[in-house]
Amino acid sequence: MKTAIVYVSTHHGNTKKLVDAIAEKYDITAIDGTREKNFDLAGFDRIGFASGIAFGKFYPQMLALMNEKLPEGKAVFFLYTYGGRTEMYCNAARKIAEKKKATILGEYGCKGYDTFGPFKLIGGISKNHPDEADLQNAVAFYGRLK
Ligand SMILES: Cc1cc2nc3c(=O)[nH]c(=O)nc-3n(C[C@H](O)[C@H](O)[C@H](O)COP(=O)(O)O)c2cc1C
Repeated sequence: MKTAIVYVSTHHGNTKKLVDAIAEKYDITAIDGTREKNFDLAGFDRIGFASGIAFGKFYPQMLALMNEKLPEGKAVFFLYTYGGRTEMYCNAARKIAEKKKATILGEYGCKGYDTFGPFKLIGGISKNHPDEADLQNAVAFYGRLK
């Protein structure tokens, strides 16, 4: 099962830590969506999209990449980190995947250090996340995927 994980992790590299932990144990191709422009996902059976959350959704850059790069009919999964859980963060990404006739295998999200806006004044929230347990849970999630 050839697997790629495309990530956009621009705030603190929190989400990239999940991807790195998975890549340490499993054979995946990690693609930095902010740097690599000419990648092609056609040759992968399974594609993960990994993003920080901004304003309740995956980063706009990630949603745009999904629209542009996800071929029809793939198996996909989602990884994300957020400052404070309040919403269904994968909804917009799921909609794009459904439009592309993807099979959605699952999602894993955990806290990630957040210094956006006023949180900066108090030294940030979700400090020290993702922590070791968060990373192990991400790896376990990946290991359970079909
Ligand atoms: C512009 C901006 C908006 C954000 N909006 C939310 C939000 O709506 N909900 C939330 O839980 N976290 C929010 N966060 C926190 C990030 O999702 C969190 O810090 C995440 O771990 C960042 O991931 P990254 O380091 O991989 O980019 C926001 C952060 C930024 C910079």
